[in-house]
Amino acid sequence: MKTYLVTGGAGFIGSNFVLYMLRKHDDIRIVNVDALTYAGNLENLASIEGDDRHVFLHADIRDEKAMSDALATYQPDYVINFAAESHVDRSIADPGIFADTNVMGTVNLLNCCRAAWDDGKGGFGDHRYLQVGTDEVYGTLAIPEKINPDGSPADPEHTDYFRETTPLNPHSPYSASKTSADLFVKAYHDTYGFPAVITRCSNNYGPFQFPEKLIPLMIHNALNHRELPVYGDGLNVRDWLYVDDHCKAIDMVATGGRLGEVYNVGGHNERANIYIVKTIIAEVAKVTGDEAVNEGLIRHVTDRAGHDRRYGMAPDKIREELGWYPETPYEEGIVKTIRWYLDNPEWVDHVTSGSYQEYYARMYDGR
Ligand code: NAD
Ligand code: TYD
Repeated sequence: MKTYLVTGGAGFIGSNFVLYMLRKHDDIRIVNVDALTYAGNLENLASIEGDDRHVFLHADIRDEKAMSDALATYQPDYVINFAAESHVDRSIADPGIFADTNVMGTVNLLNCCRAAWDDGKGGFGDHRYLQVGTDEVYGTLAIPEKINPDGSPADPEHTDYFRETTPLNPHSPYSASKTSADLFVKAYHDTYGFPAVITRCSNNYGPFQFPEKLIPLMIHNALNHRELPVYGDGLNVRDWLYVDDHCKAIDMVATGGRLGEVYNVGGHNERANIYIVKTIIAEVAKVTGDEAVNEGLIRHVTDRAGHDRRYGMAPDKIREELGWYPETPYEEGIVKTIRWYLDNPEWVDHVTSGSYQEYYARMYDGR
């Protein structure tokens, strides 16, 4: 039986990963380390309460003793590092915590793993470390000359995508911190032979995403007849992937990826933000029959500083080496996601009470 130590497993992707892994594999144990920041929520894991394949540890990846103790107690075969501050707008308002958690937290985790896994002969046994990275480290792409109405490239010959060889060029404090973390992971591999691999994924969407990110924020606002704040002209493009497809990629790379390598993950689902917002309005209106949910709610607001124009991944390497492919088409995933938010009003109420209201006022009032 293999043991996975997952950090950030009470957040959006981390909790989906824990649920995905326990669904897919009978013979594993997951030790879930999470500091439970505003983004961590044990309600995401309610469906596996009582499943003794899952152990939750309330701890911070920056805490050397807590991480060393966890590694000594549970002896994980694999460590998967999801834990991070993850929202670009928060990083613009308060960059320091992004350096602390994303960079120093990763360095601490690497040090603790290195010490725990050292076999005394210059090796690390069969242990493996996976760093969960992002496409945002590559910076930004230009909007192609010919685009479809949804914002995706219209020319089948179009080749301007992020590849693993694309130079790192982060713009936001968030992406700078994630780039820095990736470089430490690479340095530990190159210097110490540390058994690490990095995935870089495009924007995820799905259940349990905190409503500070585009898709859940727009669903939540539409349901409450609040304005839908579209940054700038709304023509920025993101490459959307249903969260379970990202979990599948991490599962495959954790065990099968070549050490020291980077794997880009994305499903060629590029869409302009304004198109996403209009899809959400149409679907919410259809399901609820509520005529007040209409495009009149859209409000173009001041653009995000340093706003990357377009992300688009080339996931050729992971497909060719590991046979990974995305299973959920965007049109299906977005409807599933909207319905999940409609079906889980209690979850939404809990995460949007209290400090969320202060956050929302700070970010959007008078914007
Ligand atoms: P999230 O903000 O929803 O969750 C982050 C989790 O980490 C939370 O549970 C939080 O409590 C925990 N955490 C934060 N600081 C911690 C600390 N110091 N110690 C322990 N736990 C801590 O983020 P997410 O969207 O699930 O993203 C997870 C990872 O995937 C991040 O590394 C992010 O950079 C990466 N990623 C996200 C996306 C995306 O679209 N959301 C895309 C590509 C990569
Ligand atoms: P977000 O979900 O924050 O992800 P990221 O910035 O990491 O890609 O934002 C996705 C896109 O949506 C991005 O171009 C910014 C835009 N956006 C809005 O237009 N309005 C909003 O209220 C938010 C949160 C995002």
